[in-house]
Amino acid sequence: MMQYPSISPVKPLTVTDLAAMKLKGEKISCLTAYDASFSAMMDEAGVDILLVGDSLGMVVQGHVSTLPVSIEDMVYHTRCVARARKRSFVVSDLPFMSYATQASAAENAAKLMQDGGAQMVKLEGPRLEVVSFLVDQGVPVCGHLGLLPQSINQLGSYRVQGKGNKEAAKIIDDALRLEQAGASLLVLECIPSTLAGKITDQLQIPVIGIGAGPDCDGQVLVLYDMLGISAGKRPRFSRNYLQDAASVEAAVKTYVDDIKSGAFPAPEHSF
Ligand code: KIV
Repeated sequence: MMQYPSISPVKPLTVTDLAAMKLKGEKISCLTAYDASFSAMMDEAGVDILLVGDSLGMVVQGHVSTLPVSIEDMVYHTRCVARARKRSFVVSDLPFMSYATQASAAENAAKLMQDGGAQMVKLEGPRLEVVSFLVDQGVPVCGHLGLLPQSINQLGSYRVQGKGNKEAAKIIDDALRLEQAGASLLVLECIPSTLAGKITDQLQIPVIGIGAGPDCDGQVLVLYDMLGISAGKRPRFSRNYLQDAASVEAAVKTYVDDIKSGAFPAPEHSF
């Protein structure tokens, strides 16, 4: 059989590696990434997942929400990130309205994976029929529940979700259904720690939290928030790691170490 030369001896993590980390109880570190320089540096620092988030609409493009981000923007930034990393797993966001139908979801997921090099796509909300359709086509999917930034015009403000019993029960139910629909990963954003812990226990797939407390299988932050360079007030669930670090690289390494040891998030970062 023909042996193909390997370009890099280091292989990117796979979806099964992430599942194995949950089984072993090893916390998963994740940061958003938008360009090649940060991608290479975060990869070197040991960040497990690079999320090309549509938060780039706010922190890179200067919009007030993620809604103006196009699939072309996402493909461009995903390509920059995927090209520069060696080990990190790359997840890319399907932007607002790009998965309104099964057909548009498939077309846009293909762009992120074929043109961008993403290993998985993320979409917001309990879009079960879209998730199972994508999974049937061989697309690994990450769900996203809790605070859904693409729904900001329905929500009115970025606030903690799932505080009441009814709302909490709905998020648990949606999480279970997303797993049944074939999602391989789930992001929980801005929900009470106890609720996130319950969901993490009930799901087989890894759960990554942002403002969801310490009991998730992993943590994600927006890179510019954890470097303290985002405009406006620091979100309560974030921590400025650059403040006490000698370099950006050292800040990212400390963030990874803190996730692995369980030091982040602390109670003051949780709801
Ligand atoms: O777009 C993004 O950065 C995200 C994270 C906040 C999870 O979806």
